[in-house]
Amino acid sequence: MSEKSGAAARIAKLRQAIDDANHRYYVLSRPTVSDAQWDTWMRELQQLEADHPELVTPESPTQRVGAPVVGLKKVVRDVPMLSLENAFDEDEIRAWGEQLTNFLGDAASGLVFSAEPKFDGVSLEVTYEDGLLTRASTRGDGITGEDVTHNAKTIRGLPLKLAKPHGRSWPKLLEVRGEVLIAKQEFRQLNQELLDAGDEPFANPRNLTSGTLKQLDPKQAKRRPMRMFCYGLGRADGLDVTTQRELLDRFVELGLPTPAGMTTFGDLDAMLAAYRELHAKRDTLPFEIDGMVIKVDTFALRERLGTRSRSPRWALACKFPAQQATTTVEDILIQVGRTGTLTPVAALAPVQVGGVTVSRATLHNADQIAKLDVRKGDTVFIERAGDVIPRVVSVVKEKRPHGTHPFRMPERCPTCGTAVVKAEDEVAVRCPNVGCPDRVLRQVELFVSRGGADIDGFGPKLVQQLVERGLVKDLADIYRLTVDDVTELDRMGDKSAAKLIAGIDAARTVPLSRFLFGLGIVHVGETVAEALAERFESLAALRAATQDDLMAEKGIGEEVARSVASWFAEPKNRELLDRMEAHGVRTTTIAKKPARTTGPFANKTVLFTGTLTGQTRQEAEEKVKERGGRILKAVSKNLDLLVVGEDAGSKLKKAQELGIRVVDEAEFLQMLKASDG
Ligand code: IVH
Repeated sequence: MSEKSGAAARIAKLRQAIDDANHRYYVLSRPTVSDAQWDTWMRELQQLEADHPELVTPESPTQRVGAPVVGLKKVVRDVPMLSLENAFDEDEIRAWGEQLTNFLGDAASGLVFSAEPKFDGVSLEVTYEDGLLTRASTRGDGITGEDVTHNAKTIRGLPLKLAKPHGRSWPKLLEVRGEVLIAKQEFRQLNQELLDAGDEPFANPRNLTSGTLKQLDPKQAKRRPMRMFCYGLGRADGLDVTTQRELLDRFVELGLPTPAGMTTFGDLDAMLAAYRELHAKRDTLPFEIDGMVIKVDTFALRERLGTRSRSPRWALACKFPAQQATTTVEDILIQVGRTGTLTPVAALAPVQVGGVTVSRATLHNADQIAKLDVRKGDTVFIERAGDVIPRVVSVVKEKRPHGTHPFRMPERCPTCGTAVVKAEDEVAVRCPNVGCPDRVLRQVELFVSRGGADIDGFGPKLVQQLVERGLVKDLADIYRLTVDDVTELDRMGDKSAAKLIAGIDAARTVPLSRFLFGLGIVHVGETVAEALAERFESLAALRAATQDDLMAEKGIGEEVARSVASWFAEPKNRELLDRMEAHGVRTTTIAKKPARTTGPFANKTVLFTGTLTGQTRQEAEEKVKERGGRILKAVSKNLDLLVVGEDAGSKLKKAQELGIRVVDEAEFLQMLKASDG
């Protein structure tokens, strides 16, 4: 085997492993490999493809994030993407069923319906030619959509190459249709980050998804994890299916993500029961849904029923009652967040929205209020979408009472009275006082939470008392608390006081990632905190890092780097960290075994070339590193040892010229043994 064919074989293996892992994770929801293993495979694949650019193929998992596009091209399709007729209650659903049965006459006897969730996302058509993803387009007006292939390739779990089912070839052409979504959880997190950074939040997950799909640079899309559920067909050549059930089964065989909750029914009563059941589950689902779609299962019957101009007669969107309501604004309050951002909140006359009593709605920021012109006393239209807290959508101006005034953001922080500040390029207004009790309160709440230092027994009521009584003015104060301090608090017996202090003591050692998350630095959510901890390994290293150092790390963008660097550069923050340290606070990273200082690899530089047979190159490199060695990427006079696998090429020649020690795989294994002996 030549070095190239060895690399090709390894590349194929890695791609398969990564694709499989993605499929199990995103489509089957049954992860089988760790993130670390996945990262290792991906890095090895990237390295091999960099060494052998001629082996890069469009379906390689490394190709999910391509180059930015200049503009979105139009796509004109042959089979229009239709819309659905809506039904808003059970009577309308029944009426639709009866109409259908009448229309079909005798043929209605074997009628089977299928039901799927109605996903509240953005519809997309993805084209596969001979199994390869070649194009993806938005619906647009149904006929003409926009080419968003570059972003669609970043959709988690959507295969770049279809799986090949046993004994069958891929359809020559397959236009798959479905809905693209971003989970509620990610939506909330992203919006919080936008708000923290003083940017405009998105109104709901659908808007976020739509905006993401239309970005020109796929790097943006990669950061906002989109998913897709495939439920329909455009054109297809070489796919013989006769029912919706068969279609979804074929999709599954081809490795496409399909709706989890698909069911079939013979009668409308069972269907209505399913509709009620899905409605009851709505708030607990990870994705936004706004109803249930009923479809005639058999394609032959669909043909008979045909379509109207914009929607098929064979399907119906059974919408859930709107998550919207009208109510009155009793007051406009200001909340101060942990980064000092002032968020206006409408205090509402309590009202039922989608089964939940709502008495508050966020107004986001001053721009939003000005745009809507919300005033105290107004009747407003509110909506719950993706978020736990609803938002004000519009004002019913006709109902505005006399004598109201436009709302103005306060010039002083309502909590501490400090004059507020507004950065030029931001909409957010902030209280600049790091000691502002509201800021401290939110900051402490975050720091002691499960994602942070995870201090037992530290509930919101306790935090409030500690801050109100001035016992905790910043995070360092938490670690100064004594049993005497806390026994004075309401509902705090000796026993619980001792327990609390013990909890604080135990939390003097905090994993670095959670400590970082708990600091509440703008843009540092749990994922970024983990990445930072993994790359920098100590608080000291992070304190010393410049914005450029931070940006040099994979997965850390400019905005994050700037935010982190400026947080650590701020003297008040440095002083806070010093005080925490003085109170015995220590951060830990997952213990790495100390580097070995003896043995054949200690302090030696090693390079691998050619194809190893007993292990992957990555594994071999790990073993060397574990034994105190360093891996080089090229032959130079600094190299101590070259390990050659099969079909080694120019590196071997160069090493021999330089007189560097060369060993084969067998000898390398001997050395490993010796080093462990
Ligand atoms: S079938 C010709 N199934 O709802 C019928 N649509 O309001 C095509 N949608 O444009 C649609 N979940 O974007 C179908 N399980 C589902 C759906 C679904 C969401 C969307 C789709 C469609 C819109 C119509």
